[in-house]
Amino acid sequence: MKIKKAVIPAAGFGTRFLPATKAQPKEMFPIVDKPALQYIVEEVVDSGIEEILVIIGRNKETIENHFDRSIELELELERRGELELLEDIQRISHMAKIHYIRQSQPLGLGHAIYCAREFVGDEAFAVLLPDDIIYSSRPCIAQMIHIYDKYGGSVLGVKEMEDDILCKYGNLQGEIIEDRVYRVDGLIEKPKIGENYSNISVLGRYIITPAIFHILEDLEPGIDGEIQLTDGLDRLAQIEDVYAYRFEGIRYDIGDKFGFLEANVEFALRDEEIRHRFIKYLDRVVKNYR
Ligand code: UTP
Repeated sequence: MKIKKAVIPAAGFGTRFLPATKAQPKEMFPIVDKPALQYIVEEVVDSGIEEILVIIGRNKETIENHFDRSIELELELERRGELELLEDIQRISHMAKIHYIRQSQPLGLGHAIYCAREFVGDEAFAVLLPDDIIYSSRPCIAQMIHIYDKYGGSVLGVKEMEDDILCKYGNLQGEIIEDRVYRVDGLIEKPKIGENYSNISVLGRYIITPAIFHILEDLEPGIDGEIQLTDGLDRLAQIEDVYAYRFEGIRYDIGDKFGFLEANVEFALRDEEIRHRFIKYLDRVVKNYR
């Protein structure tokens, strides 16, 4: 069945990026000139998905305003004759059908996804964590839909990670069944050093079957006292086939200060308008700090 809906949870506290996240969601931090969440919505739309649910928490207004029309701004750009910019701005509000739901308390990613059950209904759906931006020639979630179409079960986006950061993510136990594709036997969230199953981490992209909602309904809080999606997916893998796919692309964790800077520098270096000036600037400034 075609994947028609995507869920984007954006209701976390963003504590790794305080104080910047005190009054604004990290999902709205710009990567060069676009908020992180716009990259995610574009990935969804470019993958052929038509409807999006954003799970919002406190400070939701900036998110809603960004994807809504801004009539005053449009009139002003028209008056100034800035027609290209006007088209860009209008495109944002027409990109997709975006719905919002509030997660009243950030009880964990599993709980955030559970809030999407009515929107999702009885179909498999995509989940994209907006603090994972993935730069790739083919949208990451489209790559995963391809695997879902082939195998028919849930698909988790994974990457091989260095030993010292395995403890930050969900960790995969499974066997490889074709190049880049694994059958999942089990998962553990944020394993302690030495307790990891493998060096494969689950990152912020998922295709999930609706059976997850029955599991999340009465899932106990796990590590960090949060209702963990990874724990729910671990149970899902015990009752139906779950696959993992080592996606192609460069992934940036923009919920982390270093990852956010990496994303900004690399996206700026890819931007034709500023790259030459920016390279000269970097050459000059880096020497001063060596
Ligand atoms: P993270 O754990 O990376 O986000 O959750 P966080 O909790 O905001 O960040 P830190 O660790 O405190 O810095 C991954 C994604 O899930 C969302 C977050 O907004 C983020 O996009 N999330 C997390 C929710 O929507 N609700 C939650 O209860 C938890």
